[in-house]
Amino acid sequence: MRVAMIGTGYVGLVSGACFADFGHDVVCVDKDAGKIAALKQGEMPIYEPGLAELVASNVRQGRLAFSTELEAPVREADAVFIAVGTPSRRGDGHADLSYVYAAAREIAAALAGFTVVITKSTVPVGTGDEVERIIRETRPDADAAVVSNPEFLREGAAIRDFKHPDRIVVGTRDARAKEVMAELYRPLYLNAAPILYTGRRTAELVKYAANAFLATKVTFINEIADLCERVGADVQEVARGIGLDNRIGPKFLHAGPGYGGSCFPKDTVALIKTGHDHEAPLRIVEAVAAINDQRKRAMARKVAHAVGGQLRGKTIAVLGLTFKPNTDDMREAPSIALITALRDMGAIVRAYDPAGMEQAKRELPDILCCSGPYAAAEGADALVIVTEWEQFRALDLDRLKGVMKQPVMVDLRNVYRPEEMARAGFVYESVGRPPVRRDPVS
Ligand SMILES: NC(=O)c1ccc[n+]([C@@H]2O[C@H](COP(=O)([O-])OP(=O)(O)OC[C@H]3O[C@@H](n4cnc5c(N)ncnc54)[C@H](O)[C@@H]3O)[C@@H](O)[C@H]2O)c1
Repeated sequence: MRVAMIGTGYVGLVSGACFADFGHDVVCVDKDAGKIAALKQGEMPIYEPGLAELVASNVRQGRLAFSTELEAPVREADAVFIAVGTPSRRGDGHADLSYVYAAAREIAAALAGFTVVITKSTVPVGTGDEVERIIRETRPDADAAVVSNPEFLREGAAIRDFKHPDRIVVGTRDARAKEVMAELYRPLYLNAAPILYTGRRTAELVKYAANAFLATKVTFINEIADLCERVGADVQEVARGIGLDNRIGPKFLHAGPGYGGSCFPKDTVALIKTGHDHEAPLRIVEAVAAINDQRKRAMARKVAHAVGGQLRGKTIAVLGLTFKPNTDDMREAPSIALITALRDMGAIVRAYDPAGMEQAKRELPDILCCSGPYAAAEGADALVIVTEWEQFRALDLDRLKGVMKQPVMVDLRNVYRPEEMARAGFVYESVGRPPVRRDPVS
């Protein structure tokens, strides 16, 4: 099949490279000329494990190309994916669909022969109807079917997720479009990934409902963690205790500093707006979004508490800035609100992230960027683990103690064990577990 992927960001680039790897002919299109020029040189615009190799091998084999021009790839395509951004609209939190609609107009103008136009971007219910209307208005003669095919990949494990999805959701009632979609995903179907065919509006809602549910699960365990701290229980044991129940499941039960990233924050808010528009308020999701917003700044108070209450003039080392490990994505990362709050309280912040330093500098121009975890810890009154990169899991605690002003760790991802930190002589605070507040032992 010939595929045009419009939008070559995290989703478009990974999906395009994976479809090429399945044997399809793919052109990834983007308006950002710098991005396309870099990709043509073999440079990845994002950090995603395994992506550079996957792209290089498919380019070499002639199945994957990049372009800033949409017209020719769309004209020749059997399937055109819309994978452009749908950020929160300034002011009201609705999904900003201007990129999707602009792409739909351009696609419509270039269509030739029967073409399936597929929305892969996360879009509110009814967007497919509007995309179809735009296409009909722009090109009444076009033979196109508009399909919803939301993407569920996770940054940091995107290739694996795309190639081994739990399910593929295809929203269309059009028989010809179903055939094209089945052919596109045939290699996955052979791996027994279920394809769920639904109506278009249903498919659009599946994506938001999934993200809102996962955000709710995270927020639920975060609140249970707060309760654990008050009553002397251990949230990790509670999570295991409930997660072993098959009806609940163990995933997304890791207490932490609150969810962030390019999807959960904007998608929960957009779903809330959709609920209001249709007079079906989603009160649970409203509570989740509000609780999560407050949580990130509350983590700064936890840091203040660990250093004795006052942050003014204190030096705080922050390890991990991206919203999760194995990505350079800083969108809505909890580190941003946390560091802003630390600075508001008068702290000096030294920071290190394995992949996100460049992006972080744009978001947080006032932090001192360090070359590694021990450099960040130099002279610090406390060290805070915000993102659980592998390389922060086995830090040399003696070395840390040697460079820090005082051995205080606030572990917002529960990477270390309190007993181990007590043995190493650290004051140690984590999330939903008993703190270690004893005087350092020798
Ligand atoms: N990032 C994720 O983990 C993830 C996961 C699932 C779904 N999604 C959804 O997928 C969509 C894309 O997300 P992303 O993170 O890949 O976004 P992104 O911002 O990384 O990439 C979007 C790209 O689209 C390009 N673009 C915008 N308008 C264009 C046009 N008219 N023609 C060509 N290119 C255009 C931009 O230049 C940009 O490179 C969003 O709706 C998002 O919610 C993202």
